[in-house]
Amino acid sequence: MNKYIVLKKRPEGKPSLNDFETKETKKPQPGEGEVLLKALYVSVDPYLRGRMRDEKSYIPPFKLNEPMESMVVAEVEDSKKENFSKGDFVSGMLDWQEYQVSDGKGLNKISKDNAPLSAYLGILGLTGITAYLGLEKIGKLKEGETLLVSGAAGAVGSIVGQIGKIKGCKVVGIAGSDEKIKKITEEFQFDEGINYKTTDNIKQEIKKACPNGIDVYFDNVGGEILDAAVLNMNKFGRVINCGAISIYNAEEQPTGLRLEPFLIKSSILMQGFTVRDYAEDFQPAIKQLSEWLKEDKLQYEETIVEGFEEIPQAFLDLFEGKNKGKMVVKV
Ligand SMILES: NC(=O)c1ccc[n+]([C@@H]2O[C@H](COP(=O)([O-])OP(=O)(O)OC[C@H]3O[C@@H](n4cnc5c(N)ncnc54)[C@H](OP(=O)(O)O)[C@@H]3O)[C@@H](O)[C@H]2O)c1
Repeated sequence: MNKYIVLKKRPEGKPSLNDFETKETKKPQPGEGEVLLKALYVSVDPYLRGRMRDEKSYIPPFKLNEPMESMVVAEVEDSKKENFSKGDFVSGMLDWQEYQVSDGKGLNKISKDNAPLSAYLGILGLTGITAYLGLEKIGKLKEGETLLVSGAAGAVGSIVGQIGKIKGCKVVGIAGSDEKIKKITEEFQFDEGINYKTTDNIKQEIKKACPNGIDVYFDNVGGEILDAAVLNMNKFGRVINCGAISIYNAEEQPTGLRLEPFLIKSSILMQGFTVRDYAEDFQPAIKQLSEWLKEDKLQYEETIVEGFEEIPQAFLDLFEGKNKGKMVVKV
């Protein structure tokens, strides 16, 4: 049999396991021009929370009682399509399904020789590309500047900080446990770390860690941490709005500081993006990330959870900070 996971109901506030259901069906057979794929690794990502809402966005909402999808690494088990053979490895936006057929559209062939297969969901996938292109396109980081990054021990944040060090910047990371702060400062060479869960004055902690102010803030969390960062920005500072996980589960529109006066007074650029805006730059980004990996200038961390049915729990755990680096499920 073949298991798949659907969204059973749209979460209200914080999602729970009751919002998902694992179902069974027959293993599919590929038709002419199709391949049969066996899922090996499934990516769980905070942005999937947005797709659980029935609202218009840059990507359509999930349909109820249909398989969820995310980036998946799979093995070709059977092929009736030119250019794909049994035993090939691919990555692509695929269903949360043990076995599925595909017409090959949107599949990228990947190789075990360059990196472990799971890395194509992290450092060599959209995660690494997001970190690299967010900094390149919006941050325009210059040597000697101060870079602050939140979600610093997570998938995107841990790469952002390391790229900051490669570029010769002072790098400060914000994360949710002392263990994570130890990781980013001792293993990833961040200059300083702030545990946002053990301070009641994040603005002051940022000021202490960045006495010369912040030139670039890579924001993965939004909310009060974003406000506190903006209040510490230097003239012509750049804020990269990559993610806002702290408010993804909010049931009502969150409110906070009015940032306009600070943005105006210090000529700050604040720009959101989705990585797909820069699709034409993906290949050069992967090339650069691969080179840094080979030269040992970049390290990456993964939290690998085992078992297909654990996918929903792994997704929920992102909101509890249970991951270090990229959260991936090994099927
Ligand atoms: N714009 C794009 O194209 C794009 C692409 C990829 C990702 N993103 C966004 O970038 C962000 C990071 O994604 P990721 O894949 O690297 O995830 P991640 O950082 O690996 O995982 C999420 C982390 O967020 C932190 N977190 C959870 N709740 C929080 C809260 N209330 N306040 C502050 N931090 C909280 C947790 O770490 P702590 O222990 O530190 O709390 C958790 O480990 C997400 O917001 C995601 O949506 C955007």
